[in-house]
Amino acid sequence: MSRIVHVNGAYLPEDQARVSIFDRGFLMADGVYEVTTVIDGKLIDFDGHLARLQRSLDELGIANPMKRDQWLEVHRQLVAQNGLDQGMVYLQVTRGAPGDRDFVFPDPETTTPTVVLFTQSNPALVDSPKAKKGIKVITIDDIRWGRRDIKTVQLLYPSMGKMMAIRQGADDAWMVQDGDVTEGSSNNAYIIKDGRIITRALSSDILHGITRAAVLRFAREAQMPVEERSFTVDEAKSADEAFVTSASTFVMPVVEIDGAKLGAGIPGPLATRLREIYIEESRKAAI
Ligand code: PDD
Repeated sequence: MSRIVHVNGAYLPEDQARVSIFDRGFLMADGVYEVTTVIDGKLIDFDGHLARLQRSLDELGIANPMKRDQWLEVHRQLVAQNGLDQGMVYLQVTRGAPGDRDFVFPDPETTTPTVVLFTQSNPALVDSPKAKKGIKVITIDDIRWGRRDIKTVQLLYPSMGKMMAIRQGADDAWMVQDGDVTEGSSNNAYIIKDGRIITRALSSDILHGITRAAVLRFAREAQMPVEERSFTVDEAKSADEAFVTSASTFVMPVVEIDGAKLGAGIPGPLATRLREIYIEESRKAAI
């Protein structure tokens, strides 16, 4: 069955949706995106994702084409029209399609942003076989640009990193800068040592994960100590547990780093507990 997607105000079957070849998202990765999880047909942390969308747009000087309630309506329409129970809504806003390729930004009076949203189903999101086994990560140099706090669509290096991991029999890559882990290819990275959860502090070095904010809040509420600081690859390899967070994986235990098993090489108790708490609390607060 063909999906119904949203393009610039219209709801269309996916094979009829069109974006210009002059779109700056296509030519220059001049656009931002958000991924909002859907569980039980409801949106998880919708307002957090919209707040970060606004911030990304502000940083790039792109006008937000819709108000909160309009965004919410489009998200809900797509979930309803596609009968989505578990999965995600992907949203992308680009600077638009001015007609000629030019490094200079087009005049926002004549070039309006392009808006695209679509759903992706994933029935194994909550009851994830991967979460039961845990994932293996490799480490790679973080050679991305310096504004990783802006959620742009320039995802080539993270995508290459993921492929490097898969070719080595792992699942994902953790990126490393000056010896410290920044984040995963599409998630925030954490280690646990002596009951303390350690994750890099917020800066322009990493994306300010919406799941990260929620998980750290739940951890503190559950009296689990949290340290927001950088950690090295060696520290990570000798940690008791590790995990990643993102809208599409929630809390995902990491059981191996560069071939070194963490503990018994199975998901640790704290990461497993945090995953349960996150899913339970997110379900309650979903809209
Ligand atoms: N990725 N860091 C990076 C580099 C990311 O791409 C993501 C999200 C995160 C976690 O952010 P959040 O918790 O808000 O999802 C951290 C999304 C899921 C993606 O690209 O599909």
